[in-house]
Amino acid sequence: MCPRGQQQSLLHSAYMERLFNKRILLGVTGSIAAYKAAEVVRRLRDAGADVRVVMTRGATEFVTPMTFQALSGHPVNQELLDTEAEAGMGHIELARWADTILVAPASADFLARLAQGRADDLLSAICLASDVPLAMAPAMNGQMWQNAATQQNVRTLVARGVLMLGPDAGEQACGETGVGRLQAPEILLAGLAELFQSGVLSGKTVMVTAGPTREAIDAVRYLSNHSSGKMGFSVAQAAVEAGARVILVSGPVAMTPPDHLQCLSVVSAQEMIDTVLTHIHGVDIFIATAAVADYRPVKAATGKTKKKAERIQLELEPTPDILAEIKARFPRLFCVGFAAETEALDEYAQDKLLRKGVEMIAANWVGPAATETGGAFGSDSNALRLFWKDGSAELPVASKQKLARQLILQIAQLEEMWSQRSLDDDKVVTLPDSGRRPGR
Ligand SMILES: Cc1cc2nc3c(=O)[nH]c(=O)nc-3n(C[C@H](O)[C@H](O)[C@H](O)COP(=O)(O)O)c2cc1C
Repeated sequence: MCPRGQQQSLLHSAYMERLFNKRILLGVTGSIAAYKAAEVVRRLRDAGADVRVVMTRGATEFVTPMTFQALSGHPVNQELLDTEAEAGMGHIELARWADTILVAPASADFLARLAQGRADDLLSAICLASDVPLAMAPAMNGQMWQNAATQQNVRTLVARGVLMLGPDAGEQACGETGVGRLQAPEILLAGLAELFQSGVLSGKTVMVTAGPTREAIDAVRYLSNHSSGKMGFSVAQAAVEAGARVILVSGPVAMTPPDHLQCLSVVSAQEMIDTVLTHIHGVDIFIATAAVADYRPVKAATGKTKKKAERIQLELEPTPDILAEIKARFPRLFCVGFAAETEALDEYAQDKLLRKGVEMIAANWVGPAATETGGAFGSDSNALRLFWKDGSAELPVASKQKLARQLILQIAQLEEMWSQRSLDDDKVVTLPDSGRRPGR
């Protein structure tokens, strides 16, 4: 058995990693336990989460917004019908911004409002306008908690998928002992971290390519593109959170790879395909997010080419088509490609799906056409359109991390159906073993 201190530190390190870089909207309501939310903010920040606090009017009677502003590093949002606040980060922006919403403490009245679908205060309106997981940490007098009305509201919320964290039992502010205390901060954070651990890819191995490639012109110059690698890294992270073993093959980027995966760094398209082929054995899902250069100089000069007055010609040849080649060699490997286009997004994406024979294409706008997403290369947000053989889906503008989690869920669903169909086909036609997935 693990000693208690050791157990707590294991719990602590597990949630610290999962909450890193997550956008947490913390709602604080009018409970005597509102002061404890300050500690929740501090611990979330320690775990590397970005925290924005929304307080109800009731909550501001117990603790000042200044406390949460200082701890979160952001202004605290309070009023729904506030023109200035709406002109900045309004209720819809806040709802879209969050990866998850935690209300701690959640008052009995707030649970009632949420159960009824009310939207007459900022926090209720945000919860109603958001499609992210909601977690409630109730805190109230024991009788209030036990009341049939509260219990009915809690059942309604749980049936809708709202996560209830607590309440805890013990001595309460009103002097009574019973169930109704706010759950301890470390338990709240551990529960919240669970929301980012879907497990839909448990037992699977996923390979993700990310970033740009660099094609040498001479000893100091290269051809490349503006890919930052953010989307690929987010996809790799989301696959880790979904329980997969992940191999990330990355071109040159300025980011630190996520934890708990194997990261292999490459420079050129040739190195990328060589590395992919070396490590593809045992992979179940191949996700090609890398913006691989389409052309490379036929011959790179070994030294630095000297500048002269006259024009020079650079002869280019196509680089290996990594996605097409992997799909051709391993037809039974589930392959997902990315398409970044400046025009005719749907047509090019559907054409790519057929031409490369892959299972899914995730398409996004780049360049001037990407006005709504703020330009996909290098930006923190994006929007995706997904295409597969018998369907499509739209993932609206969101942070790349949130999009990556939605993409991974979609991939997991399709891959499961696809593998089942492949197994059924195998019962009818026995394919040679070489035509299957890369061997383990
Ligand atoms: C001193 C005091 C302490 C309170 N503590 C709690 C509490 O712990 N939990 C709760 O649900 N309500 C509590 N209430 C009642 C709420 O503040 C009240 O229902 C309020 O309308 C909640 O508003 P809100 O949910 O918009 O923040 C308390 C009220 C007072 C005066």
